[in-house]
Amino acid sequence: MAARIFRKLVSTNASFTRHYSSGKQTVTLIPGDGIGPEISAAVQKIFAIAEVPIEWESVDVTPVRYPDGKFGIPQAAIDSVNKNKVGLKGPLMTPVGKGHRSLNLALRKEFNLYANVRPCRSLEGYETLYDNVDVVTIRENTEGEYSGIEHEIVEGVVQSIKLITEEASRRVAEFAFQYTKDNGRHKVTAVHKANIMRMSDGLFLHCCREAAEKFPEVKFEEKYLDTVCLNMVQDPNQYDVLVMPNLYGDILSDMCAGLVGGLGLTPSGNIGLNGALFESVHGTAPDIAGQDKANPTALLLSAVMMLRYMKLNKYADVIEQACFNTIKEGKFLTGDLGGKAKCSEFTDEICQKIAASK
Ligand code: IPM
Ligand code: MG
Repeated sequence: MAARIFRKLVSTNASFTRHYSSGKQTVTLIPGDGIGPEISAAVQKIFAIAEVPIEWESVDVTPVRYPDGKFGIPQAAIDSVNKNKVGLKGPLMTPVGKGHRSLNLALRKEFNLYANVRPCRSLEGYETLYDNVDVVTIRENTEGEYSGIEHEIVEGVVQSIKLITEEASRRVAEFAFQYTKDNGRHKVTAVHKANIMRMSDGLFLHCCREAAEKFPEVKFEEKYLDTVCLNMVQDPNQYDVLVMPNLYGDILSDMCAGLVGGLGLTPSGNIGLNGALFESVHGTAPDIAGQDKANPTALLLSAVMMLRYMKLNKYADVIEQACFNTIKEGKFLTGDLGGKAKCSEFTDEICQKIAASK
């Protein structure tokens, strides 16, 4: 089974490259809520200046009510992602504890985007406690504590089920090793609490050990989640690629983002066998929405990750460099980075740098 999934993973990427490396490809764009539309417009502007050979297909994902009474993603949006196989997404608002369930999660589940990849690197020019952070968290993205299986047993007693399967654990573990190898990295750390959740995290860990055997050239270590948190804030340099179940990845990736300046700066990619969705994982920031104040960096760097996935590396490099240089120079920083620039001024500066590099 594992070998089959793995072969499919490799061959899917290969056929993706063949199919998409020439001509203009269409990419689904989900601008999202709150600041989503303005940061999406910023990315589109930058892509246009860089002459990236893609067409955007913008879709609305305002939840629709299906005949069973449940709210979900509109069919047109599902069709678009299924057709294009690659998408970029801004933040979507989720009501807390009521109303429809998170569409962010629904999208990951709908397209079986099983590996969530979040690189975290220190940015030159934006000072934080450390200047040498360079870690990647790879989070299982379809099950675990996010299975959404919850019920009340008797009044006052509720139960939430953390579902761990061999299939999902194995595919994300193998993905982590393959990613490490493909990206010239050296070590995978499996993050777990198998001392407490002996069966569920135990199974996850077992799958990581098996994957490690298939990649003898990649170093492998096992660490408890609490130890990783402790070590990470003391010396992030000791980690490279980390793989873990869903909720641990949610929390640890935010912590890593905090080490380099926050969620406004860090990209994220949800990868499946048959496509991928790249997204900024910050919130919708309704307090500043529509005021041209948002920082588009996280969405832009997610879009850069998307370009590398599509093998459009040349464009990715130019855009990423222009973004990094703009932050490094510090003249047009948005409020979250201590500056006074508007989103549009930051965006224009990146555009100018791209134009000058031609
Ligand atoms: C993330 C976010 C989501 C999650 C929310 C928006 C549902 O925090 O992508 O990390 O919990 O996974
Ligand atoms: Mg999160």
